[in-house]
Amino acid sequence: MFKNKAKTGDSLKEKVSPKNFTKNPIKGTKFTVMISSAKGGVGKSTFSINLLFALQKLGYKVGLLDADIHGPSLPKMIGLNERPKTNNDKFLLPLEKYGAQFMSLGFLVDEKTPMIWRGPMVAGTIKTLAEKVLWKDLDFLIIDMPPGTGDTQLTFAQDVKIDGAIIISTPQELALMDVTRGIQMFNKVKIKILGLVENMSFFKGDDGKSYNIFGEDGVEKTAKEFDKKFLGKIPINTELRKSADLGLPLTYKKPDHEISKIFADIALKIKQDVL
Ligand SMILES: Nc1ncnc2c1ncn2[C@@H]1O[C@H](COP(=O)(O)OP(=O)(O)OP(=O)(O)O)[C@@H](O)[C@H]1O
Ligand SMILES: [Mg+2]
Repeated sequence: MFKNKAKTGDSLKEKVSPKNFTKNPIKGTKFTVMISSAKGGVGKSTFSINLLFALQKLGYKVGLLDADIHGPSLPKMIGLNERPKTNNDKFLLPLEKYGAQFMSLGFLVDEKTPMIWRGPMVAGTIKTLAEKVLWKDLDFLIIDMPPGTGDTQLTFAQDVKIDGAIIISTPQELALMDVTRGIQMFNKVKIKILGLVENMSFFKGDDGKSYNIFGEDGVEKTAKEFDKKFLGKIPINTELRKSADLGLPLTYKKPDHEISKIFADIALKIKQDVL
């Protein structure tokens, strides 16, 4: 009788104890870096695409996976809207442009498909995107995440081997509260945080002065507080926005632009940390 009791106790323990997830590396890539923010609209996608080409300029083969469900922005940012081909119906072939490889839900789901249909389709699609894209010999795969700490983030965190995460934020207090949540999420799922980036840091006027529109040094202070690296500040810049709207990323089009140099500096820091 006691024996049985002990057995029940053991199986219950097994059920309630935290699961150990097997994290599979994404095939065809050496390093997978996730770009994330708990808050929406802070510039993850803009950062992802420009970091991608900054890493390419360092001589790496790069690819970008746009994992945003509700608003995949890659097709517009890169000026691509084709259906990806498949390899014997088994794997999806990434699209190629400017010497880089790309995959986005936006290539697979019609822009006009109502959101209510997208939801259930997307849950499975995320897994497919993580497992069934035939990336070719990539050094770096950048994953542009949707905002928040929801299902997509957890699917990736639990199933996929991520080499590091970068958290993007704007400097105002409200955004910083979300950064804290983001840091806690990555700590919980044991993903290394490569560092924090402050986007829309300041605006340089025609008068040459810098204006701290959303506050000053908030992200750097948060990084210090949590003992994380601070990777850099990206100012509000019209050319950066326009280049994304035109499908011609700034770091690709103008690698010597002062903003591109900031991205080059961040790319170098990531290289040093990951390699
Ligand atoms: N440093 C910047 N200077 C000027 N415009 C910027 C900057 N960063 C981002 N933007 C613009 O702000 C808007 C939102 O940026 P983006 O789409 O990159 O944010 P996101 O965090 O990916 O948003 P979402 O949470 O919806 O995925 C875009 O129009 C983009 O061009
Ligand atoms: Mg985005």
